[in-house]
Amino acid sequence: MELAGRCAVVTGGGHGIGRALAEELTARGARVVVADLNVERAQKVAARVGGIAAACDVGSQDAVNDLVASAEDAFGPVAVFCSNAGFSDTGDGLQVSAEDLRRIVDVNLLSHVWAAQAVLPGMLDRGAGWLIQTISSAALITGPSFMGYTLTKHGALGFAEWVALNYGHRGIQVTCLCPNAVNTGMLGRNEDDEDDEHDGAAGRPDLSALGEVVEPEDCARQALDAAQTGRFLALPHPRVGDSFLRKATDYDAWLARTNQRLQRMRE
Ligand SMILES: NC(=O)c1ccc[n+]([C@@H]2O[C@H](COP(=O)([O-])OP(=O)(O)OC[C@H]3O[C@@H](n4cnc5c(N)ncnc54)[C@H](O)[C@@H]3O)[C@@H](O)[C@H]2O)c1
Repeated sequence: MELAGRCAVVTGGGHGIGRALAEELTARGARVVVADLNVERAQKVAARVGGIAAACDVGSQDAVNDLVASAEDAFGPVAVFCSNAGFSDTGDGLQVSAEDLRRIVDVNLLSHVWAAQAVLPGMLDRGAGWLIQTISSAALITGPSFMGYTLTKHGALGFAEWVALNYGHRGIQVTCLCPNAVNTGMLGRNEDDEDDEHDGAAGRPDLSALGEVVEPEDCARQALDAAQTGRFLALPHPRVGDSFLRKATDYDAWLARTNQRLQRMRE
């Protein structure tokens, strides 16, 4: 799909991967609506990319509907929706309160459903549209992620697969970005402390213990390249694909090995 002049929405666009998606979409010609719970961050990114900012809590269906309506008022029909906003719980094992669990389900899982319900009818009428979902390697290989994060990311991948299977033949491109560690707020980075080119060292924690940590710009580029070339998965860490293959080939062996590895990590 040609992006020039097209309306793109990025949730969680004020920081991290969402900020990089807003910049990459702009570089490819799209007109971008930067939505975030933190409206000041959204405004900063929107000003930089020449887009518009919107305050939005993606855990609320009404807020997502309002976001899509205001994006369409500003820039016309939504051609690309990047459902990117999300967060991780930090709970201890199974002990998560019902309230916290509902919140992470709303933000990390149902937000994708609200977005698709709001934009898919128009995309289907036009016979074209991209849904780019920032999910996680946790959806494919779980790893050391927390319980609420794991279950919501698995659900989000299942939902994306369902949309692709049901609407792929009608011009809808679904692409899931499933990175492992990325240098963003989720790993302690604070771009508010950096200069506008994101090349300042300030605010960047030492992430050397996490293995390969990719930059949000790589994620954004790879997600958009995957959508442009009709691929469902964007995997910035190739080892995630290797592990996913081992899991599919022998689930029990993969579970046993991963269980041992997680125990060693926790010790
Ligand atoms: N950083 C990683 O290592 C990593 C790895 C895999 C997947 N992800 C996923 O990437 C996505 C983006 O996270 P990030 O790493 O860029 O983190 P980040 O903290 O840098 O950015 C997240 C942004 O989303 C916004 N946000 C949070 N909750 C929101 C809500 N309810 N409504 C609207 N905006 C909200 C935050 O204000 C923030 O600006 C998340 O879905 C996350 O699960 C991150």
